[in-house]
Amino acid sequence: MTVTVPYPALRTFVTGQFTAHGVPPRRAALAADALCHGDLTGAGSHGVFNLARLYLPLLRDGRADPAAEPRAVRDTGPCVLLDACRALGLWSAAEAMDLAVVRARRYGVGLVSVRGGTHLGCAGFAALRAASRGMVGVVASNCGGQRIARPPGGAVAMLGTNPLAVAAPAVEDHPFLLDMSTTVVPTGRVRLAAAAGEPVPAGWLADDSGREVTDPAAFDRGEAHLRWLGGTPELGVYKGFGLGLVVELLAAAVSGAGLGPGPAALRGDGRPSGRDDDIGFLLMAVAPLHTGFGETARSLFGALLACPPADPSAPVRYPGWPEAERARRRRREGVPLPGPVYDELAALGFGRVAVTG
Ligand SMILES: NC(=O)c1ccc[n+]([C@@H]2O[C@H](COP(=O)([O-])OP(=O)(O)OC[C@H]3O[C@@H](n4cnc5c(N)ncnc54)[C@H](O)[C@@H]3O)[C@@H](O)[C@H]2O)c1
Repeated sequence: MTVTVPYPALRTFVTGQFTAHGVPPRRAALAADALCHGDLTGAGSHGVFNLARLYLPLLRDGRADPAAEPRAVRDTGPCVLLDACRALGLWSAAEAMDLAVVRARRYGVGLVSVRGGTHLGCAGFAALRAASRGMVGVVASNCGGQRIARPPGGAVAMLGTNPLAVAAPAVEDHPFLLDMSTTVVPTGRVRLAAAAGEPVPAGWLADDSGREVTDPAAFDRGEAHLRWLGGTPELGVYKGFGLGLVVELLAAAVSGAGLGPGPAALRGDGRPSGRDDDIGFLLMAVAPLHTGFGETARSLFGALLACPPADPSAPVRYPGWPEAERARRRRREGVPLPGPVYDELAALGFGRVAVTG
């Protein structure tokens, strides 16, 4: 069952949940925008699905500080190192990107490196803030000390699902946005499938001997682990693993945030371990040097859209296009939520608002 809810009601409700937990109103609204971005664009694994299971517990347990004020540790002009002081990543990554944009206007490039962060949700939400100002935005986030995926050939989980996002202006109202986990999927997509009682495609999960697993519940039972993008050496697993390491370097080693790999990883039984505290982010804004960049980007992405499709009913699209279309439709027609996710919101009080569909 799916319940379709009006977007403004969802956004207002989520904002209220954050303010009720002590987040100042303007930042609560920004955090709600970041969280609902997942539901608007179709990344339900990183939308309100995570409100009751991740963000509110983080605030209640003190792992995130609702009133945190990020603090500059170093500032060289184009580069700033921030300690997020356990602020909600949902709003603090977005504010950090806004700072990167300000510096890029002055220096051509703005790089804000963040440590002491908490989960930022969809990395693409922050990347788009640079694209909407005519720049290229790059966002990387590690998962702090949380270890989920094993190095290829390894028997111990060492790294998180380490998302990477790049956004840029493209064709009118449809920015380019590559926004992805560096594992084949994020854990949220496995858990959503488990909640829905549906199998996952072969290629997402493997057991200790490398055999395919399609039962998503096997992941939380510790009987299956997530594969990196590519999956196997023949299909490019070292590219996915390498990208995961690129994120760990740029987001966490550069900022001094918590790392996945280390002695603690070896203390357990090899299964996922550690907590996603002290997360590192990299937020970079690149101001184009070429004055005709906007036109060049329109022409580049327009040419891709004009590529003759192999299947006439499936036109060629670039990353970000389907999400922009979906978001536009859902703002207008409502946001479909899986029944169990709606029930979780209703348990928090969401039932009191009008529901359509
Ligand atoms: N905060 C964290 O720790 C964390 C960890 C992992 C993932 N995430 C987030 O989870 C979200 C989902 O990640 P994902 O890996 O499941 O993404 P995904 O597999 O749904 O999409 C990956 C990319 O493929 C593109 N794409 C997919 N279908 C397309 C099509 N038909 N045409 C053109 N482009 C298409 C999308 O635009 C996107 O850029 C992201 O927002 C990511 O930032 C966050």
